[in-house]
Amino acid sequence: MKVLVATDKPFAKVAVDGIRKEIEAAGYELVLLEKYGEKAKLLEAVKDANAIIIRSDIIDAEVLDAAKELKIVVRAGAGYDNVDLEAATAHNVCVMNTPGQNSNAVAELAFGLMVMAVRNMYNGTSGTELMGKKLGIHAYGNVGRNVARIAKGFGMKIYAFDAFCPKEVIEKDGVKAVDSAEELYSACDVVSLHIPATAETKNSINYALVNKMPKGGLLVNTARKEVINEAELIQLMEERTDLKYMTDIMPAANETFAAKFAGRYFSTPKKMGAQTAEANINAGIAAAKQIVGFLKDGCEKFRVNKK
Ligand code: 3PG
Repeated sequence: MKVLVATDKPFAKVAVDGIRKEIEAAGYELVLLEKYGEKAKLLEAVKDANAIIIRSDIIDAEVLDAAKELKIVVRAGAGYDNVDLEAATAHNVCVMNTPGQNSNAVAELAFGLMVMAVRNMYNGTSGTELMGKKLGIHAYGNVGRNVARIAKGFGMKIYAFDAFCPKEVIEKDGVKAVDSAEELYSACDVVSLHIPATAETKNSINYALVNKMPKGGLLVNTARKEVINEAELIQLMEERTDLKYMTDIMPAANETFAAKFAGRYFSTPKKMGAQTAEANINAGIAAAKQIVGFLKDGCEKFRVNKK
């Protein structure tokens, strides 16, 4: 059995070593395709792969057509919007993710972006502190929970909205659960986004919602660029010079944001929330173990597509 690790944005070497150990202990072969850049290289590499481990790499119908021997794809990470689930089902390929394995890394980066913003991008002028500020966590999944845990250490007042998580679960963590996104944005000085990119959430962070934030509001995005209505956020930030936007996922309109909103906009050059050795090891080895469990025992825990 051939297990392909196809990561345009590579894992730390220590994580690749751990993945290799798991795969080889099961008697399988590991093939590594890193920083491949062009899709043609991926199409070539998947031809004889029985299993694939990916990150944000795109697995669409064309890739699935080329992967004649493929049985399983594991997205080493949380979001699987980069995989065509329907096409995978049609090709009889199981798709899984590894929920929770990289969430602390993403949560820590959200605070890195928050501190950078409230200290005026480290430009030497007097900024503000996070202590005592109201933090709104938009979606209370694995990353959101870690954000809440860290925010307690910062002494922030913590609020959360999650349409799919019961309020009691949120409030058990000492977090105030609110009834709507509108309520969250109206109440909070800082909003940290942790929603997935789905048909419902795409473009949902729009003018009307972000405009509810109080003066000096800070929006932090370590989730997905697709959830932002970029044209409306640009319009709003032009009108409201008090608002700041910090993101780990470079917007399509990055150049416009950077040119218009210097000092109150920042994007990492490459999505790096999950770029820690720890997160790479956790997610990568979990992915390898899930592949072995699937191929050897038919275990489908963490399957995300229909059969
Ligand atoms: C995820 O969905 O797990 C995170 O966004 C991390 O994505 P990455 O593996 O591409 O860094």
